[in-house]
Amino acid sequence: MAFGKIGQTLSALEIFDLVRADLDKVEREIGLESVASVEAMNYINQYLQSGGGKRLRPILVLLSGHLLGDANPGLIRMAAVVEMIHTATLVHDDVIDLAKTRRGRPSINVVWGNHTSVLAGDWLYMQAFQVALRERNFQILDVLIALTQMMVEGELLQLERIGKIAVTEADYMELIDRKTASLFSACARLGALTVGAGEVLEQKLGDYAWNLGIAFQLVDDILDFTSREKILGKPVGNDLREGKVTLPLVFALETADAEERKLVETVLADGNYDQVPFGKILQILTRHQGIERAQERAQEFTERARAIIAQFPDSPYQRALMAVTNLVTARDR
Ligand code: IPE
Ligand code: IPE
Ligand code: MG
Ligand code: MG
Repeated sequence: MAFGKIGQTLSALEIFDLVRADLDKVEREIGLESVASVEAMNYINQYLQSGGGKRLRPILVLLSGHLLGDANPGLIRMAAVVEMIHTATLVHDDVIDLAKTRRGRPSINVVWGNHTSVLAGDWLYMQAFQVALRERNFQILDVLIALTQMMVEGELLQLERIGKIAVTEADYMELIDRKTASLFSACARLGALTVGAGEVLEQKLGDYAWNLGIAFQLVDDILDFTSREKILGKPVGNDLREGKVTLPLVFALETADAEERKLVETVLADGNYDQVPFGKILQILTRHQGIERAQERAQEFTERARAIIAQFPDSPYQRALMAVTNLVTARDR
């Protein structure tokens, strides 16, 4: 449970103090709800739950619920639900991306193989929906079903574009809206729905979280170039190797010359850095300010999230949601 910068600011501590007891309950809930009648699924669930992970999405549900109403047991359940859905998307995503590492350990597809991983992801999705169903709230199901389809469509869209160099900023934004920001937004809205907040507040907090989610994915895609595997828990340079042209590279390619484009195309075609070392790609990014420009974008969306949360009355939870924006931009994993 570690943000890279945790402990450096009072705000970060403030967040965790506010939700620590709830998060313990969320972990217990996930554990209780991760019991299958087939032993393999139980091993996978244990492996997944013990693998770390920042639990950012449950934190968002909890803070949102507390901000807008009186906490109830449903809030803990919904926080568990979003983490289970997040986990299911990661299990499937690692199959699709042929990933080897997740959260610093071999990914599920490496340990159990693709066939089992697909089924494990399905099981997790359905278990999450079963837990959500206990709220007997159709609005919650509406949010979750629309969200899941949105994310799956995002993965399909990404698959169609894999290996292609002609990616625009708009293409990129559409993808990260679907695969990351939509889930962040749903977390805030589910928190609001669970405590019975009205539609206006639900929408507004959803917008806050959507902007936060966009900033989060932008930072993720920057870290893919600038961080190190030991810190990140997944290999660096991975996106390009997987055939994904993310925003830092989209920006750099806008001004890159033919020779530089050719180098990027080579990595896309090869799916490795054998002919063109990763350092060469970093040079192109530096030369064309790809990282800086993407950082500016991340900052813009962070500011938008802050401006929205600033409109809520001051309270510990409002301040915590404000502080979450710092953690997202300043994180190193
Ligand atoms: C990983 O999300 C998937 C992305 C949207 C980049 P996180 O970085 O929140 O993953 P964990 O849960 O902390 O491992
Ligand atoms: C994020 O996609 C996973 C989902 C939201 C489905 P990526 O493929 O970009 O994320 P990482 O790099 O594997 O965490
Ligand atoms: Mg992936
Ligand atoms: Mg990524």
